Amino acid sequence: MVATTIHGCNFYNMDCIEGVRSHFADESVDLIITDPPYGIEGDALHRHYNRNELHVVDGYVEIPLADYPSFSRKWIREAERILRPGGQMYVISGYSNLIHILNALHETDLQEINHIIWKYNFGVYTSRKYVSSHYHILYYAKPGGRRTFNLECRYGLQERDDQGGSLNYRDREDVWIIDREYKPGRSKNKNELPDELLTKMMQYSSNEGELVCDLFLGGFSTARVALGLNRNATGFEVSSEIFSHGVNLLRTVEPGYLCDSLRRPTVGRPRNQGKRWTESEIQQLLQRFEGIMQEGNTKKKAIEELTEEFGRGRFSIQRILREHGNS
Ligand SMILES: C[S@@+](CC[C@H](N)C(=O)[O-])C[C@H]1O[C@@H](n2cnc3c(N)ncnc32)[C@H](O)[C@@H]1O
Repeated sequence: MVATTIHGCNFYNMDCIEGVRSHFADESVDLIITDPPYGIEGDALHRHYNRNELHVVDGYVEIPLADYPSFSRKWIREAERILRPGGQMYVISGYSNLIHILNALHETDLQEINHIIWKYNFGVYTSRKYVSSHYHILYYAKPGGRRTFNLECRYGLQERDDQGGSLNYRDREDVWIIDREYKPGRSKNKNELPDELLTKMMQYSSNEGELVCDLFLGGFSTARVALGLNRNATGFEVSSEIFSHGVNLLRTVEPGYLCDSLRRPTVGRPRNQGKRWTESEIQQLLQRFEGIMQEGNTKKKAIEELTEEFGRGRFSIQRILREHGNS
């Protein structure tokens, strides 16, 4: 199978497991963002997404439920192999077969970083139980290298909302409220991810010029947003109808087209830098330090959290801890 190349990036119309094995070297990818088929039988999928199918591109390939555990194990093993040390993966999953994805992840050496809940609009209507309105985003990293996490890529640490709350903290909470896009009359994949969601993952976890891979391209939204943010993109889609729709769309995309729309964070010195430490602030710091360490965190992690909470520089925090016997 030869790749279709767009803007210098390769895309493959084939099964991703076979495709990754034949086209990707070990440790060759910086970031994987992927949304595998959910193993929901037959027509239940569109009920699950509660949507009008009129403009959905045909050809979506589902995985039979009986094969779902072994299928998940295979593609996740390959994903682990191609990630560079420190490389990261976000897997978007509904709850129905989440257990199989989690089991497969636990069989690898990948490290769980966060289990994010994505709360969306247009939940599945129910009358005898609660309305289902979230997905799971499993955020993992490959050990052995430096993991990219661009702490201030969207909000500076000192930026506050009207009530004085930290915008950076709020943006990094592990419940994300992001609406699905409503695209009346436009053709789309059965479960297209919103640009806002993809942009957020890529901003935090990759840099310009890095390679972002999606093993299940569907509507090519990951590839489109990656190109739009000046990343390189690659990936697989097994359905030829969906693939040709996706590549046609991608050909119209201008690399970097999303960059101007990004919010520019105000990044500056810590908000309390240069202010004298009061005795009560020192006591609070020591208590918080103890609490964070008791949760099983490293000292480095504790200091990272404390710099943000106290609006102080790392050296200042380290000095106070040292002076109080926590060297
Ligand atoms: C949930 S959709 C992906 C949607 C995509 N994230 C988007 O935003 O449009 C999953 C896609 O994986 C494709 N697929 C199913 N089995 C596959 C396989 N073995 N290899 C590659 N693609 C596959 C399906 O045809 C479907 O288009």
